[in-house]
Amino acid sequence: MNKKKREELLTEAIEARKNAYVPYSHFQVGAALLTKGGKIYRGCNIENAAFGSTMCAERTAFFKAVSEGEKAFEAIAIVGGPEGKELIPVCDPCGNCRQVMAEFCKGDFEIIFGSSKKDISVYTLDQLLPLRFDYNEAMK
Ligand code: THU
Repeated sequence: MNKKKREELLTEAIEARKNAYVPYSHFQVGAALLTKGGKIYRGCNIENAAFGSTMCAERTAFFKAVSEGEKAFEAIAIVGGPEGKELIPVCDPCGNCRQVMAEFCKGDFEIIFGSSKKDISVYTLDQLLPLRFDYNEAMK
């Protein structure tokens, strides 16, 4: 994926973060998920008074996309930071979100971080979740 597309996706994630609902942690996360067909699905974290019912930004984006019939994904941009403060340079996805990525994405799926266009870093799913359980592979 080229530099310009990564920057565009990061900008979408920054926009998505504005809708974060975070009355408990005050930590806002935004995600922008790019399908292989070129569509972008945004997600933000949505907290709940019953803390376990909180949903992360990344999974919000995935579930929105999958519920609309999407199943092939190229990349996700993730941004995060405390409310009213600067974005942190790398907002790592939690284990649950990595596992959801593993369900729908190949090892070369890109995970893009940054606090601005100047400090973009890129990882693959292979790097963030090596040796993941692959049901289809296991059942062969
Ligand atoms: N959060 C995300 O949205 N994505 C992650 O991968 C990690 C954490 C959210 C959950 C909670 O609303 C807040 O960040 C603080 O943990």
